[in-house]
Parts: sequence; structure tokens; C-alpha cells
Amino acid sequence: MAEQKAKLSIKNTNVELDILSGTLGPEVVDVSSLFKTGYFTYDPGFMSTASCESKITYIDGDEGILLYRGYPIDQLARSSSFVEVCYLLLHGELPNKIEFKEFCNAINRHTMVHEQIRNFFNGFRRDAHPMAVMVGVVGALSAFYHDKLNIKDPEHRAISALRLIAKMPTIAAMCYKYSVGQPFMPPKNKMTYAENFLYMMFGTPCEDYIPNPVLARALDRIFILHADHEQNASTSTVRLAGSTGANPFACISAGIAALWGPAHGGANEAALNMLHEIGDISQIPKYIARAKDPNDNFRLMGFGHRVYKNYDPRAKVMRETCYEVLEAVGAHHDPFFKIAMELERIALEDPYFIDRKLYPNVDFYSGITLSAIGIPPNMFTVIFALARTIGWIAHWNEMISSPYRLSRPRQLYTGPTERNYVPMKTREPVS
Ligand code: CMC
Repeated sequence: MAEQKAKLSIKNTNVELDILSGTLGPEVVDVSSLFKTGYFTYDPGFMSTASCESKITYIDGDEGILLYRGYPIDQLARSSSFVEVCYLLLHGELPNKIEFKEFCNAINRHTMVHEQIRNFFNGFRRDAHPMAVMVGVVGALSAFYHDKLNIKDPEHRAISALRLIAKMPTIAAMCYKYSVGQPFMPPKNKMTYAENFLYMMFGTPCEDYIPNPVLARALDRIFILHADHEQNASTSTVRLAGSTGANPFACISAGIAALWGPAHGGANEAALNMLHEIGDISQIPKYIARAKDPNDNFRLMGFGHRVYKNYDPRAKVMRETCYEVLEAVGAHHDPFFKIAMELERIALEDPYFIDRKLYPNVDFYSGITLSAIGIPPNMFTVIFALARTIGWIAHWNEMISSPYRLSRPRQLYTGPTERNYVPMKTREPVS
């Protein structure tokens, strides 16, 4: 609700802009009518821009707070389950027993993928990056599930959301199985969401596979911690694609592509690769020096965050889970994990990192944990995508169910001014 005004004076034009307040967080200046004056705002990287109104997730980066629908992330990670968090993000409230049971049943009805989807995999090289396969296969879901693609119909949107939540683990595990040349394992609906994923990843038709409960719980926590993070690059991508009226599978596929980059979801894989590159504790000072050198573009992957200028609240829980998993699989003496722990210690004590508020982020610990669980690094971002799908679909649904406009930013043009085409034969050779 706008009660106060911001006054902006641009050359000879005076403009009054509404100041809007949310329930938490900084107030925002509503610049949406500024274009009528002939001026635009300029904010590359969206450093000062709130792109939408949302009721889903709140972050206070200075205080290290993350709330899903008002609930602190550490409470959810410790006491809830990923499927319950999916319900919460999608519907806004925690489910009662009956609602939860119905939701679980609804997800279970959609865990399988159409048989024809297997054929897609055969078109990919076995050594393809699983994220490349995910972008393609998830986008292709719209070719299979087009019976419920009317985005204006809430029931269609709900079914697409269930399909995505239910099928992502199946597709993610298929990506892995394809890369290692093993048969795809069909989902087992009597297992929990995380157990089922472990089963589809590591089970084979030859032997019984019983998921380790410590690893399943750790994976469930990883899913909860990655489920949503307000208007990050991939969620904004999903919203932007969604604003054109594109179907949810296409929008989520766009989100997966945006997540892939090492500055976003690719950081967990990059962090693990960096640990391998460091190779030995004795090499750590060299890499710390490189990270601090302004002339070297090397960065400590898994450290720093655009929003958190305090300890990432997800990293706190992830760190505990990481140690539990290392203990459970007997990897805490592994030299590789010792490098990670030593790097963490040095970075937390080094003034360069302290002054810039560069703490280990969730991806630093999730990469180590996933690796200890036995998941190969090129699958890390796939797992992030699996977990973030609920956040993407909740944001997409929130946008589509309220009044929204096509997202279409403008620019500060600095290219050539208008000039006439010159035929090639008369162009001057470039010296
Ligand atoms: N290692 C070394 N120096 C760093 C790092 C790092 N990881 N991150 C930032 N800095 C320095 C940077 O050089 C700059 O120093 P100076 O002020 O002397 O020029 C200062 O810290 C501020 O950096 P910035 O690039 O302006 O900060 P940003 O908010 O644009 O970048 C970031 C955020 C996450 C892209 C960056 O910290 C980074 O590249 N981290 C490594 C990649 C990573 O772990 N990403 C995962 C983020 S968490 C997952 C998610 O939510 O998607």
C-alpha cells in the first residue's frame, strides 16, 4: 500500500513515485510509471531492483535469514520433509495430515515418465553433461503432457506442478544411469522422495537396494535447503519466460539453463572441481593467494553470495549434515575432505574474506556431502535443479494466478547512431 511518495527531480521534470512496503524487508520505490516521463531506470545486474511482488520466500542477507512462507529454513530442514516443504511453497501453508497424504498420493501417481521419453536419451552421447540432457528432456515434457497445458486453468497448473515435482527425480536418475550405461530403474513409490531418488540412482535390477537412512535424510535436507531462494537468476528466468505465456515445462527448462552457470547452481560442481585441482593441503595457500589477487580471475568456488553478507543460513545446516554424512560413510579421514575443511578454516580467518563478508555458501558443503554420498560432481547441479523445481513452479504459479505483464526490460543504447548501408565493394579495407 502506498502512503508515502518519493520525489525525483530529473532536469526540469519533477516526478512523484509511490513508496511501497511489504511485510518484511526494505521498502521499494515504484518506478513503473517513470517511462511516461521519457526516462528509464538503469540497473545492470538488478543490484537495486525488486522485479516483482511475492509471498513465497524472504531473505535478509545481512542478518542471514531465510524464510519459506514465514518459516525459518533451519526449522524446516531439521523438522520437516522435502515433500511437506513442496506443499508449503506451493500452497502457502503447512498441510494437515489428510492434505499431506493426498499430496503424497498425487505425487506418487506421476513419478513415472512416458515410455517414449527413453528414446530421447538414446539421442544423447553417453558422455553428455547431465545438465544438457536435463534442459532438453524437461523442455520436451511439454510434448508429452500437453493435455493439461492451459495455463489459465488452476487445475491444469496444479497437475503440471505435480508432474514436475514427481518426474524430476526420475529424469535426474535416468541422466545418471544413461551416463554410466546401466538400465533405468523405475520409481518405487513406497519409498520416501529422497530414498526413491537414491534407489533410482544406485539400485540395479540384479540386487536389492536399501537406501542408507542417514544418506536419505541428508539428501532430503539438501532438497529442502535448495527448494527456493526468492528472485535469483534462474527463478527470474522462469518468471520472465512465464510472462510470455510459455508452458510450465518450457519455463522450467529455461530455469535449468540459467541454473547451470558456475555463478549460480553450477557452483557446487565447480567447488568440488576446485578441491580436486588444489589436490593437497600444502597447495591451499597458493590458491588463497590467487583468489585474493585482483589480476587473477580465480575465485574460491563455494564462497561468497550476492545476497548473504553474513553466514548463509543454509550453509549452517548443510555443514552439520555434511559432517554427519562424512561420519556415516567413514570419509572424514579422506584427504580430499581434509582439504575442504582446511580451506574453510583458512578462509574464515583470512581478513580478505572477512572484510568482504565471503563466507562458505550452501554449495561448498552440499558438493562435499553429495560427493560423500557417491554422487558424481557432474550430477550436483542436476540435484540442485531437482530441488529448485518446486521453487520455480511456485513462483510461476504465483505469477500466473495474479495480474501480470509481459516482462520486457529496456536498455541504455550505446551503439552506432543511424547510418546508411554501404555496398561491400565500396567499403574501405580495414587497416
Ligand atoms: N573468491 C574470492 N573473491 C571473491 C569471491 C570468491 N568466491 N567472491 C567475491 N569475491 C570478491 C570479489 O573479487 C570482490 O572483491 P573486490 O571488492 O576487491 O573487487 C568482492 O569479493 C565482491 O565480489 P562481487 O563479484 O562484487 O560480488 P557479487 O555479489 O557480484 O558475487 C558471487 C557473488 C556468488 C557471484 C561471488 O561471490 C562468486 O563468484 N562466488 C563463487 C561462486 C559461488 O560460490 N556461487 C554460488 C552462490 S550460492 C548458490 C546460489 O544461491 O545460486
